[in-house]
This record gives sequence, C-alpha cells and structure tokens, in this order.
Amino acid sequence: MSAQQEIRRLTAPDIRARKEGDPIVCLTSYHAHTARLVDHYCDVILVGDSLGMVMHGLETTVPVTLDMMILQGHAVMRGSKRALVVIDMPFGSYEASREQAFASCARVMKETGCGAIKLEGGRRMEDTIRFLVERGVPVMGHVGLTPQSINTIGSFRAQGRDEADWGPIEDDARAVSDAGAFSVVIEAVAEPLARRITGAIPIPTIGIGASPACDGQVLVLEDMLGLSPRVPRFVKRFGELGPGIEAAIKSYADEVRSRAFPGPDHVYGMRKPK
Ligand code: KIV
Repeated sequence: MSAQQEIRRLTAPDIRARKEGDPIVCLTSYHAHTARLVDHYCDVILVGDSLGMVMHGLETTVPVTLDMMILQGHAVMRGSKRALVVIDMPFGSYEASREQAFASCARVMKETGCGAIKLEGGRRMEDTIRFLVERGVPVMGHVGLTPQSINTIGSFRAQGRDEADWGPIEDDARAVSDAGAFSVVIEAVAEPLARRITGAIPIPTIGIGASPACDGQVLVLEDMLGLSPRVPRFVKRFGELGPGIEAAIKSYADEVRSRAFPGPDHVYGMRKPK
C-alpha cells in the first residue's frame, strides 16, 4: 500500500461523532494550492458559494452556478487528502423540489468526489434534507443569516439579537438536525442564542459569527488572511497577506521594467555539444 493510500479522508459520520468533542476546524478553499495548505490543519474544507464574491467580485452569492461549484470543488478535492470536503449548493439548484435537490447533489458528488454538501435553510428545507440523507447525500445545514436569501431579507444583518426573535432560528436548527443533517453552520447569530442551540441539538454546530461554545468554527480563508477588502465584524484577521502580495507584485513589475528579471538563473542556456 502506498503512503498516499494510507491517508484516510474524514467522513461526514466522523464529523457527526465530534459533538461536544474537540472543536471542529473548518476553513473555505476554492483552489488546489490553498486546499493543500488548509488540509494540513483543518477537519473540514468548505467550498463555499462565497467564491462568487471572493473569486469573481460578485456583490452577492445569488449568481453562483452549479458549474462554478463543481469546477472549484474538483480542484479542492485534487489539492487535499485528509479533510472532509463539503461543497455548497448554489442558489437555484435545490430549492424547487426534493427531486431537483437530489439531481443537483448527485451531480456534485459524482463529478467532484466530495464527501458532503451544504445547503441553506431550516424548516423550509427539512423535507428536502431528509430526502437527500435517505438517498445517500450527507448534508450540512446552514441557519441564522443565510446569504442566498439576501434579496428577501434585505441586508447581511446579525440574527436573533432580540430574544423575541430566537424561536424561529432555534426551530430552524432543530429541523435541520431532525431531518438527519450531520452538522449545521450557524451564521451571524447572537452569541447566547448560538450557545443555546449548540446545547439543544444533537449534531455539531459550526459557528461563523456565532459563539465559542459551538462545536466548531468556520471562516472564509481570504477574509482571515487579510486579502478581502471588506469583512464582516465577526472575522478575525489571522494574517495580513495583502501588503506582502502587493510588495511582491511591485518588485516583479519593477524588475521586468528594469530588465533585472529574468536573471541568469531563470533562463535556459544551450546544451554543451557532445
Ligand atoms: O459560502 C461560504 O463560504 C459559507 C461560509 C461563510 C459558512 O457558507
């Protein structure tokens, strides 16, 4: 058996079993090279539909297509070996019916080889999640702020900051859990509510702008690396890569203009005649 074959990828049941265990570490990635780095340290790699905003400069995730998710999902699978790769279902690919959802998820799983999918919505998606799970699709839910609903909710605002609003959000998380999802992302929700949901449902909660009490945490890689121009308040910048990248690009441009690059080490000489 080769060394490569010995590395076993984490599965949705492995993550499901981490409820109240060691925190689940999750980051997004959309490319093979970042996936390779993330894979060394994370349990879950999320190919988020945030790629529409991060890679393509879109204002929202709404225009993202299934083909975009499959292309980048495939790249992340090629770049990683150990983490569970979860691919986001984009807006319009799963909401119309359970059958539409299954057809889209089956395409994503067959064409990328990913281990699970994520979809947004709580009670309204309960039947669909159950239908998918019964047919072999591991589902990560996503409740609280659901960015694909931006055109009906109006803005990317934190949810549940008044206790009077807690009920529907808690019901959403419970519905996702009852339907058989293996975990659920809780996004931009008041901290005490995220803590309460984590204590109330039997599946791991993955927080983003939620609570340290969640069973795991997720961030968008480019946000935490300091590459995104605007980030939500809940993002901690663990790096400031922007200035370093800009400095490298400036040096490259200067050296091309001054003909300092390419130097002797970066060109091919002729072979010596035999
Ligand atoms: O699309 C994404 O990156 C996400 C995370 C922010 C959870 O859904």
